[in-house]
Amino acid sequence: MKIIIDTDPGQDDAAAIFLALGSPELEVLGITTVAGNVPLALTAKNARIICEMAGRPDVRVFAGADKPLVRALVTAEHVHGKTGLDGPELFEPTMPLQEKHAVDFIVETIKAEESGTVTLCTIGPLTNIALALAPEIAKRVQQIVMMGGAYFEQGNVTPSAEFNVYVDPEAARDVFKSGIPIVMMPLDVTHKVLTTSVRTARIKETGTRAALALSEMLLFFERFDEEKYGTDGGPLHDPTTIAYLLKPELFQGRQCNVEIETKSELTRGASVVDWWQVSDRSHNALVIGDVDADGFFDLLTERIACL
Ligand code: BDR
Ligand code: CA
Repeated sequence: MKIIIDTDPGQDDAAAIFLALGSPELEVLGITTVAGNVPLALTAKNARIICEMAGRPDVRVFAGADKPLVRALVTAEHVHGKTGLDGPELFEPTMPLQEKHAVDFIVETIKAEESGTVTLCTIGPLTNIALALAPEIAKRVQQIVMMGGAYFEQGNVTPSAEFNVYVDPEAARDVFKSGIPIVMMPLDVTHKVLTTSVRTARIKETGTRAALALSEMLLFFERFDEEKYGTDGGPLHDPTTIAYLLKPELFQGRQCNVEIETKSELTRGASVVDWWQVSDRSHNALVIGDVDADGFFDLLTERIACL
């Protein structure tokens, strides 16, 4: 499976990238970065640090949009720390940042590869993807597997919005209208994969450089949600997208209509999911609601042990 990972790392983004790089079924054509959890310069740097921690300095990393389509950037240092990747000791990456703009890379790659063979895994705000998706490009994309949105779970950045959609709601709206098959991992499912102390200890025990770094990242990352929700561990949002590609049988969902609120200031970035099919709006996404959480962590632990 050929994939492009569009990301704003982020500790949970790091877990997603490690899972992808540890999985021989996936060919990571490139990693594209976007402004989100922290500004673009940091997400482009963090993506390279993550590749080097995984022993994969050969992976190509491209920097993309430094702000949302029409709004000012909102970041999340209060969750991810000042660097976006707080936890382990960080370093200056030595692998180069590619010169090409991320959006050009996405467009050129989708044109160059056989139509219908490239999956976009999006784990940050959808700005790069919206900029790349002219109709002639959109029709060549196999699918988008995204972390974003929420329905019964409500929001994590406002009462009604999840962070990735909230940061660039116009981009998310355009992506849901693109006609590309979409698999959506909302908070409803990501809040079921908690980084409990037993699960993070198992990751750490595998002993690889990536596993040790990830366990330190998770210790930092989970403190915010543990305090907020009173749980053992925090939700590990982003690697659900990669896990879905590897083992879709771990997940359950249903085809729904999803629309994004862009007008209201109160509910900006709300993902309006017609879970109960009460509207006549047509289906545009497979919305995931359930997961075998132990199976998910078994997979993550097994693959991170291969790095
Ligand atoms: C999403 O927002 C970011 O903070 C995380 O990396 C994840 O992609 C969760 O709402
Ligand atoms: Ca992310």
